[in-house]
Amino acid sequence: MENRIISPSLLAADFTNLQSEIEMLNKSDADWLHLDIMDGVFVPNITFGMPVIKQMRKHSDKIFDVHLMIVNPDRFVEDFAKAGADILVVHYEACTHLHRTIQLIKQHGMKAGVSLNPHTPVSVLSEVLADLDVVLIMSVNPGFGGQKFIENTYSKIKELAELKKVKGSNAIIEIDGGVNTEILPKLEKAGAQAFVAGSFVFNSSNPIETITDLKNC
Ligand code: DX5
Ligand code: ZN
Repeated sequence: MENRIISPSLLAADFTNLQSEIEMLNKSDADWLHLDIMDGVFVPNITFGMPVIKQMRKHSDKIFDVHLMIVNPDRFVEDFAKAGADILVVHYEACTHLHRTIQLIKQHGMKAGVSLNPHTPVSVLSEVLADLDVVLIMSVNPGFGGQKFIENTYSKIKELAELKKVKGSNAIIEIDGGVNTEILPKLEKAGAQAFVAGSFVFNSSNPIETITDLKNC
């Protein structure tokens, strides 16, 4: 589909060859680069932070779709803006004052996104939906790549698409976890527009071709 957004997740990339992985993605049909930031507190895993994003920024003009799996993200909003994030996604479950966090992200010139864990209903976003640029629905429990897609995601997407209409929201519905060419068309049919794929891309023998497949399936 013409305006389908593909956001490969670098979590499954070769971290010792990040520059060449990014150069590969630059040549691909990827629209965004999905960067997974984990703090070992919100999720049981640790990845990388601002200094790495800053270095990556030098090698790509693609949109950096930064997924924060960290507690109290307000502390670092400015730092992620300076590092080069274009879209900053925080977790609903990690923000006590979500409205304030969303405004803070926008004040720093970034697009604002909120992510929902699999157990969190979409209705919790009803009062902020009109302010959001992206809603990232987790289709696995955050923390690791390569997990099995949770089927309940389809009904969450449909519900969110309805809620968007009611609230006059233009937020892009993005799906993260277990996405492949078999699942993607069904997610899109349910109402999703952007798709993260980690292991499906990087564990394939030809990631560039795989990204094209995701774009056109
Ligand atoms: C998981 C991350 C995902 C992860 C997806 O916590 O948020 O972005 O990289 O990986 P796959 O596509 O392998 O499920
Ligand atoms: Zn992610």
